[in-house]
Amino acid sequence: MVSKVTNIHVTGEAASQITIGRGLFSAVPEALGELVKKVLIIHTGSGAKQATALREQLQEAGYQALLAEVPDAENAKRIEVAAFCWQILGQTDFTRSDAIIGLGGGAVTDLAGFVGGCWLRGVKVVLIPTSVLGMVDAAIGGKTGINSAEGKNLIGVFAAPSRVLCDFETLQTLPRNEILAGFAEVVKCGFIAEPEILEILERDVAVASNPNSAEFQRLVELAVDVKAQVVSADFRDSSQREILNYGHTLGHAIEHSERYQWRHGVAVAIGMVYAAELGRLAGNLSERVVDRHRSILESLELPLSYSAARWEGLLSIMQRDKKTRAGMLRFVVLDDIAKPRILAGADHTLLRFAYDEISR
Ligand code: GLY
Repeated sequence: MVSKVTNIHVTGEAASQITIGRGLFSAVPEALGELVKKVLIIHTGSGAKQATALREQLQEAGYQALLAEVPDAENAKRIEVAAFCWQILGQTDFTRSDAIIGLGGGAVTDLAGFVGGCWLRGVKVVLIPTSVLGMVDAAIGGKTGINSAEGKNLIGVFAAPSRVLCDFETLQTLPRNEILAGFAEVVKCGFIAEPEILEILERDVAVASNPNSAEFQRLVELAVDVKAQVVSADFRDSSQREILNYGHTLGHAIEHSERYQWRHGVAVAIGMVYAAELGRLAGNLSERVVDRHRSILESLELPLSYSAARWEGLLSIMQRDKKTRAGMLRFVVLDDIAKPRILAGADHTLLRFAYDEISR
């Protein structure tokens, strides 16, 4: 079992430190800094045991530590839930020198970041993601937000956490299919920027996807590093950050079409195979790299295809997506591994041909 601790930094406007390792609850006081006296730990019912343990530890260290239990998954990302958290902050006189801790999966860290980013126009936020997806994507980079009746993540603020603690101890009880779904974002980082990720997965996927292995830690470090570099260069999503959406244009449409009952990574896996086929048909990506998408994602037990009958519906969802500009669909495609580019306004016939390659 690995016990190494690594630190990766996001620089610039979103400056933050991401610590990766094991047994990191003991690092929370140092992450909070000297001025903080009071913390609100936002968590779900399934994370209640971990949250209670953390609260006790912080109380022993002299902090006033409060808990806010919120609903699981996307149900946490509602304005009523954010208001419940703000009510606790108001009733306990939270000041600018107090802090929020978000302990949970991507939905909890999105909510906690939003709650902290709005309270008093921004208080310190420390995130402890407890899923692979949270560690390599959601908790890093300060995209926070909640959903509304009109759509996902439509309400939010850019508010970077000051620290992110990726503690592999928190993954011990995570179901295997959750871990594998989170790997879609790791694979994404491999294709858009870091070929070593793909090589590690191809060497021995069982070892690489085991949270107790050194290979797992290396993969998380590499994926976090990719995200940290992109966010350091483009915190506000005005240019380079768009490459993190590789596989997400179709992936988001599939999630929508499945009424958000599918895991994000499962939809993104199909979306990446689609983006790879689009990159091939649009001219530059080799068949060998497209095949590599399929073989790596399949080795992680992720799906590679989707219903042929759903194309028209998916196209119309993609056209309504908030990332579509002036009615022109935008896809991140690859010219090669680590060579992403934007394909904007592609002909619908081409989009359909690429879909034929992944539909059943
Ligand atoms: N999850 C994509 C981003 O953070 O930009």
